[in-house]
Amino acid sequence: MSTDDDTTESKCGASTSEAETETESKCGASSATEDESASKCGGSASSSSSSSSSCGASSDSDDSEEKEVGSTVDDFDAEPGQLIAVGLGPGQPEGMTQRAKAALLDADHIVGYTTYVELLPDEIVEAADDIYNTPMCGEVSRTEEAVDRTLAGNDVAIIGSGDPNVYALAGLALEITESKGADADMVDFEVVPGVPAAQSCGARLGAPLVNDTVSISLSDHLTPMPEIESRLHAVAGEEFAITIYNPWSRKRRDNYQKACEILLNHRDEDTVVGIVHGAGRDDEEVEITTLGELPEKGEEDIIDMTTTIVIGNSDTYVHEGRMVTPRGYRNKYDY
Ligand SMILES: C[S@@+](CC[C@H](N)C(=O)[O-])C[C@H]1O[C@@H](n2cnc3c(N)ncnc32)[C@H](O)[C@@H]1O
Repeated sequence: MSTDDDTTESKCGASTSEAETETESKCGASSATEDESASKCGGSASSSSSSSSSCGASSDSDDSEEKEVGSTVDDFDAEPGQLIAVGLGPGQPEGMTQRAKAALLDADHIVGYTTYVELLPDEIVEAADDIYNTPMCGEVSRTEEAVDRTLAGNDVAIIGSGDPNVYALAGLALEITESKGADADMVDFEVVPGVPAAQSCGARLGAPLVNDTVSISLSDHLTPMPEIESRLHAVAGEEFAITIYNPWSRKRRDNYQKACEILLNHRDEDTVVGIVHGAGRDDEEVEITTLGELPEKGEEDIIDMTTTIVIGNSDTYVHEGRMVTPRGYRNKYDY
């Protein structure tokens, strides 16, 4: 395949998604993420073929605005291909499952957010007939593109970091497929799991997640903040370790501080907290701190949209620089 610059105007125009704000940089410097952020409306999609001609739909998929799902199953004459949602894991190729790798090598087309496409090993990029990637926006239009290409007869993989079932696009792919009058069986829909950030970050911290655990995303893009606050109140008072996804962005500074406030209302300020930025990526950073220190960490580079925060439970302790959450064996066994 090629990833040449036959760039087409993206259909995006929707607000930034959880999935796509991941690379927002804290430093605020002139990073690629800043550029992506600037291109939020009208960002370009890159593909070896144009977005409208490649899918083969009779509808025009080259519109510059995100809009309602356009083409329906009746617009396609071909026998549909297969649609798979593939989780890449944390970032490095070694963190990808063999099954994910095999599925991607088999796919005709790969569709994903630019950052995730850049994480793909060369052999996968070279094996694909076409790769369609879009920057910072357009998760709906990109997923629609994946569904259209499948209905046009291609085997398509839509990719994302971690696992497709964790704050990711597996559900959206099914919803869009259904909204086009197709169904999961028609496109032989399959999810190929990947290692979620909670697990890859937990691994970097030691053993913080071996007992009951919940995840909360602080992104209010799709869930209003009052609802997020109410969920945090509900879990913070219980004996769960809590994994915080999407902890910080420039637009979500207040969400981060509010979340810290709620956690400190329910838990001791000495509660052990692990912070992992960019697990498995070149800029990985790991720090163990306490809940009392967490509010001020919000302004440090380690916490941004590529960070996952793990709040221990009341039994979590630190041993030789590693978080340990007892599973409870000591209640039953002597050792
Ligand atoms: C939209 S969610 C996608 C989650 C992904 N599907 C998963 O299973 O991990 C994006 C969030 O995942 C977390 N995340 C993703 N990759 C990460 C990494 N390599 N290191 C730390 N956190 C990561 C961050 O909290 C980020 O804001």
